[in-house]
Amino acid sequence: MKSDNLLKLYFDQLDQIHSAETQIREALPKMIEAATEPELKVALQNHLEQTTDHAVRLDKILMEAKGVVDPKPCKGIAALISEGEDIIQDATDDSVRDAGIVASAQKIEHYEMAAYGTLRTFAEILGNPEHADLLDQTLEEEKYADAILTSIADTANDKAHKVA
Ligand SMILES: [Fe+2]
Ligand SMILES: [Fe+2]
Repeated sequence: MKSDNLLKLYFDQLDQIHSAETQIREALPKMIEAATEPELKVALQNHLEQTTDHAVRLDKILMEAKGVVDPKPCKGIAALISEGEDIIQDATDDSVRDAGIVASAQKIEHYEMAAYGTLRTFAEILGNPEHADLLDQTLEEEKYADAILTSIADTANDKAHKVA
């Protein structure tokens, strides 16, 4: 879609983050499988469930706003997921792999936080407080996931640092 006004840009960005959530939903099971620390596996599993909610909220918003869900391939998330897959493949030590999974998961969360922060603001400017509220709920869950990963990083980085 050509973005020549804020409403079109809003729709375009919604379609893009919808694609991002779908890609994340596909990537998370592989990250869970590759992770060693139970705490990391649980955190990623919990966020996989939230990620499904994020896609459902976007479906609701998009259907209300324009009556169609038309995901626009999100290249940014595709690149971040691909980098994460490289880390998983390249690591030969479980602790280092875990530290790498946390690093790549946090990059994904920060991408989502930026996207949802912008979308919430667009929804407010465009006079749609219900959408702003839904987008804010997702933003808060992305922030929470990022905070959990930060706490896991403390242990994961420490263990990885001890690897010779
Ligand atoms: Fe999400
Ligand atoms: Fe997320």
